[in-house]
Amino acid sequence: MILVVGGAGYIGSHLVKELVRSHKVLVLDNLSTGHQEAIDKEAIFIHGELGDQQLLNDIFSTFPIKAVMHFAASSLVGESVLNPQKYYMNNVVATLSLLNAMVKHKVKNFIFSSTAAAYGISNVKLIDEDVPTLPINPYGRSKLMIELILSDYAQAYDLHYVNLRYFNAAGAYPTGEIGESHHPESHLIPIILQHLAGSREKVFIYGDNYDTRDGTCIRDYIHVMDLAAAHIIALESLLNGKNKAATYNLGNGSGYSVKEVINTCEKVTQLKCKVEIAQRRVGDPAILVASAEKIQQELGWKAERDLEAIIASAWKWHKHQKY
Ligand code: UFG
Repeated sequence: MILVVGGAGYIGSHLVKELVRSHKVLVLDNLSTGHQEAIDKEAIFIHGELGDQQLLNDIFSTFPIKAVMHFAASSLVGESVLNPQKYYMNNVVATLSLLNAMVKHKVKNFIFSSTAAAYGISNVKLIDEDVPTLPINPYGRSKLMIELILSDYAQAYDLHYVNLRYFNAAGAYPTGEIGESHHPESHLIPIILQHLAGSREKVFIYGDNYDTRDGTCIRDYIHVMDLAAAHIIALESLLNGKNKAATYNLGNGSGYSVKEVINTCEKVTQLKCKVEIAQRRVGDPAILVASAEKIQQELGWKAERDLEAIIASAWKWHKHQKY
């Protein structure tokens, strides 16, 4: 059985829907930002806090957990600057409770949701895993701290782990039954699609004076279903002993500017977007694009869906949402 912490959230719920095909799944989620209806019915669900040591002891004593996949985190860069306490408590302290419970109960395998924010601002065209990690905000630092702790725990307690550094996750389940739903929403693609579905007056472009081909920020958008597939491959690599300690980027390897994303949304939906140029958002690097060569070489994973496919699946979900 696999414990998925944060399995009611955006990326966790997509992973769970895929993982139930091959494993028994237990979801632990406090539903602070996740949605219970997004959890696949095949999974067992426990509503509780990650920091609840007694609950973790009960879970590890009751269920035969082979591995833990950890998606539960606060993940808004701007909020992390204003309220670092929340980020260090939720992302570091609570994760440590989980790791300590795993060590105590001899659960050996851990998949960690890390982030491109661990790299900070890089001038490298394609960011690979050897680029120095110099996060520029508490969110990125909180994730990197856990990566460092994992490497120490691996040495001392023989814990096996894979860190997956996501670039920009987007898109929805192909059937349209689950998708990206944050309250409030801050991510570009859902914001554009909410506008095109009629629930926002316009889209603000945060800065058009960056040193990029059209002045707007460039990001590497990756389909949430490609992310889910990567998690399952990474999990199997731990379970079959191929991996003991690894870090991989998850991205498409191609970057799109904010304006290009807006154009692609217009193309997919056949609707016209109303945009306004606004101030730069604090802490936004101009360009963040992954090299995902390492995971392709080592585990044979490659992103399969391009930006148009990402937006088409997201649109299938968004056009039926009531905001
Ligand atoms: N943007 C706009 N208008 C909006 C929303 C976003 O112009 O209304 C721009 C942003 O300024 C940025 C790009 O669109 O240039 C993408 O922004 P998102 O908020 O969708 O995503 P981020 O790149 O900020 O965030 C992602 C992950 C975070 C991670 C971060 C690392 O979602 O978890 O990359 O920088 F921390």
